[in-house]
Amino acid sequence: MKIPRNIEEARRRAEELRREIHEHNYRYYVLNQPIISDAEYDALMAELRAIERQFPELVTPDSPTQRVGAPPREEFGTVRHTVPMLSLEDARNEEELRAFDARIHRFLRLPPGEPVVYAAEPKYDGLSCELVYVDGVLTVASTRGDGQVGEDVTPNVRTIDTVPLRLREHPEFSIPERLEVRGEVLISKEDFAKLNQERERQGLSPFANPRNAAAGSLRQLDPTITASRPLVFIAWGIGQRTLPTKTHRETLDLLHKLGFRVAEPRRICQGIEEVIAYYRELENLRDTFPFELDGAVIKVNNMDLWETLGTTARSPRWAIAAKFKPRERTTRLLDVQFQVGRTGIITPVALLEPVEVGGVVISRATLHNFEEVARKDVRIGDWVFVRRAGDVIPEIVGPIPERRKGTERPILPPDRCPVCQGEVVKEGAYLKCINLACPAKLEAALRHMAGRRALDIEGLGKKTAELLVRRGKVQDPADVFFLRAGDFQDLPGFAEKSIQNLLQAIDRARRIPLHRFLFALGIPGVGEQVARTLAREFRTLKALQRANEEALMRVEGIGPELARNITRFFKEPHNQRILAKFLKAITLEEEPETEQDVMPFAGKTFVFTGALASMTRDRARELVESLGGKVSSSVSRKTSYVVVGENPGSKLDRARELGVPVLSETEFLNMLKDTGAHP
Ligand code: IVH
Repeated sequence: MKIPRNIEEARRRAEELRREIHEHNYRYYVLNQPIISDAEYDALMAELRAIERQFPELVTPDSPTQRVGAPPREEFGTVRHTVPMLSLEDARNEEELRAFDARIHRFLRLPPGEPVVYAAEPKYDGLSCELVYVDGVLTVASTRGDGQVGEDVTPNVRTIDTVPLRLREHPEFSIPERLEVRGEVLISKEDFAKLNQERERQGLSPFANPRNAAAGSLRQLDPTITASRPLVFIAWGIGQRTLPTKTHRETLDLLHKLGFRVAEPRRICQGIEEVIAYYRELENLRDTFPFELDGAVIKVNNMDLWETLGTTARSPRWAIAAKFKPRERTTRLLDVQFQVGRTGIITPVALLEPVEVGGVVISRATLHNFEEVARKDVRIGDWVFVRRAGDVIPEIVGPIPERRKGTERPILPPDRCPVCQGEVVKEGAYLKCINLACPAKLEAALRHMAGRRALDIEGLGKKTAELLVRRGKVQDPADVFFLRAGDFQDLPGFAEKSIQNLLQAIDRARRIPLHRFLFALGIPGVGEQVARTLAREFRTLKALQRANEEALMRVEGIGPELARNITRFFKEPHNQRILAKFLKAITLEEEPETEQDVMPFAGKTFVFTGALASMTRDRARELVESLGGKVSSSVSRKTSYVVVGENPGSKLDRARELGVPVLSETEFLNMLKDTGAHP
């Protein structure tokens, strides 16, 4: 960011920034149709703030820095918040969190060695709301609006199941005359996906992300529409302090008792280093978390200190948002490539101007299929939103038509296979090359077969597969096992050493457990789990080849379609020839009779304590059992692991007493990931 040195230049730039930001605010808050990512918006605001700091005389009352959020929409009535709803300052990394802690120490005149007690919790990416209860009854609900005045959305909020219409009675204290509960209105990732599917079926344009979906659902003039949307309210605080609580922790505990779902997982941290540990752990949970998170919120736990610390114009000094790296950015779509997969499906892949998303530089993203390209109307030369969620392949969310210049070109499906020039047909949403001998299919099959979870042949990657197929060294996957050093002599880029290494890797794959071989075959619908099940049930390839559809369907988890795929695969004469060839070169290790070895959690007993953030207990049990493990409700010496969620109970103490290994939720999730299971 460059800050102008003379005031004239600064004035010009500030005016330009304000115009832009006002426009983006309108698109974001009123239209729910942003055309830049949050990160870019934040950058514009940061630049404007920096200029205004340098030249305070340039601050105007209508500058976007002088207020938070959006003006209320006129169609709604307005509600003035008794205590302004401020926003939070951001910390983008651990260093900025430590700086926040140092500032608190300075303000409170605490010696550096004395830890401040913080309450840490998730920062939900939704729409903030205030619910006012008078004598325990929900009377008014409003959006944050500009922080001072929000929109009256009472009828809409009443339709949200997780909003208590009346507070629960509580024996230990009497409900205050007025209670202002603040929190976030959200849609889970799962419900968001369902909602968008439904909208697409109805020919409506999909929402860009869960937050836009939540905003669009809440700010409806017709509450029956809101009622049909799966909104959730999660409380993270109160307005006026009318509860008899001294700490933030107690406040949320009490709100929970009064009937609210509150921010989870939360943790009390002694000092900033524990906060940082929480921040890291939460980031690990991000992908499996049911709601979109954009960071953690860190608050000084002792609420009496809130007054001492006070607020700046827009945010309190006693809290900070520890943001995660943004996962959505904008960039240019430069060109499109067509990629042919194992089954012949042709996938359009976007080549992008490289952009950093969530810490990784991205230059390619999938466009899934041509129907999607048409529906989203993405064009070559467009500015697009790209998103990367965890390990998932980056994808194009959609174009930004407002940024078009008129030179953009449509993306047309090819009329021939881009690799073999063979014929293509449409199959549902997909375009498929139907040439059985298409080299691209064979290359993709080889890469799948050589993958770490299949035959694990190191050195047989994209380049090598392409060379082997296109130079005629390999005509089907089994040919790999008949390669000799001589076959590589005339191939470019192969040194003596790399040939030896590859041949050794191939030799190592000659003895292989049945389930890995089955997975390597790439039978449609047979992933790792199904391959394991088949191997366990049939124990030999011969037995499986002989099984008919009925026999297959008797196996847990195998339905009619999968059964048909499997029998069809083994009946195919071409496949039979290849299988026979494989068996000349490799030895299949039969599956042992017991479930040991096959099931990664066989013989292991898990005990859960505390709430898991990423899944329900039932789901956790289901996963453990599907991997051959057991779940027990009490800890004994025989327990293999105790998995600890938020607010663990006495089982944790018992585990420590008995010396049973204790796993955090992140460690448990990593263990699941290692087995290939999907939480
Ligand atoms: S506390 C004084 N806690 O983030 C502000 N906010 O930038 C106190 N948010 O408007 C906010 N999760 O909409 C707080 N656990 C959480 C939150 C949270 C999400 C949102 C909220 C607020 C914005 C602040």
